[in-house]
Amino acid sequence: MKSRLGIKILVTGGSGQVGSELVASLLNVGGIEDVHAPSSIELDLSSRETVLGAICSIRPDWVIHAGAWTQVDACEDNPQKAYLVNGLGSRFVVQGAEMVGARVCYLSTDYVFDGNSKRPYLEWDPVGPRTVYGVSKLAGEMEMRSSDLIVRTSWVMGEFGHNMAKTLVRLAKAGERHRFVNDQIGSPTVVSDLVALIIELVMGGHSGIFHVSNAGEASWFDVARFIFEAVGEDPGRITPVSSAELIGYKAPRPGYSVLDNFALRGSGLKALPSWRESLFRLVSKLQEGL
Ligand SMILES: NC(=O)c1ccc[n+]([C@@H]2O[C@H](COP(=O)([O-])OP(=O)(O)OC[C@H]3O[C@@H](n4cnc5c(N)ncnc54)[C@H](OP(=O)(O)O)[C@@H]3O)[C@@H](O)[C@H]2O)c1
Repeated sequence: MKSRLGIKILVTGGSGQVGSELVASLLNVGGIEDVHAPSSIELDLSSRETVLGAICSIRPDWVIHAGAWTQVDACEDNPQKAYLVNGLGSRFVVQGAEMVGARVCYLSTDYVFDGNSKRPYLEWDPVGPRTVYGVSKLAGEMEMRSSDLIVRTSWVMGEFGHNMAKTLVRLAKAGERHRFVNDQIGSPTVVSDLVALIIELVMGGHSGIFHVSNAGEASWFDVARFIFEAVGEDPGRITPVSSAELIGYKAPRPGYSVLDNFALRGSGLKALPSWRESLFRLVSKLQEGL
């Protein structure tokens, strides 16, 4: 039986950390008729032909555009690929959406900011990316129309794919000592909370820029200690280190990239829980899977 609203959604990046939870959740939302998640071969963001072909054959009402080349350090070595996949690829998505009358929800990042702020970034604060990845994601933002949605998030951790929460649970159990930076401050975000909010924004017909992150701020040192404690291991095994002492990162990490979820609150939507509450829930789930 066709549901009342009968909305059809196409997800790019459906095999990724966010995309896989997004697709699973969308399938359980009333009012959504169909969810399509073409692979990165069927819808290759670097190929205008495949992007337009996939969108025109599926004819979605919304494209949730979560696909991107997300390897921040590798982007520094291959800017052409970053700009093609993340920047121009987003232009192709918008062109396809225009052809079938669809709207786009684009996932973006705290890396569009310069990381020098002393207070949480508002949706309208000036951008100033310092990495190729950040420039390429900002290029994607610039392709969006006023009727589209831009969801900026940060420090994402979920059940699928590679992320810091999974790494930390594994390290905690391995019994070694580790160093984590205490001079990079951001907003940790758990995928299940992010996905629920994206769905609420899409189903509510919102447009414009929204910052979506769990409440509160933390350094990676704080997150590491929290996860060690959550799995019953000694947080004293984590020691602080400065970013300057760490070598091996090609792309500079933002020193401060906390996102103020102002537009969310101001639009009458419920803020996400604190990162501690949500990360504790995620870590408990990850432990069940060990
Ligand atoms: N992770 C974070 O901390 C974070 C923070 C802020 C914003 N974001 C944004 O959130 C979104 C989702 O991130 P994520 O963590 O889920 O990333 P992810 O796990 O790296 O997933 C990226 C997805 O993009 C797809 N993709 C890569 N190149 C593609 C191409 N040329 N054509 C089509 N699809 C392609 C990948 O497909 P394959 O697996 O087939 O390559 C994968 O499904 C991204 O837009 C990212 O910029 C992430």
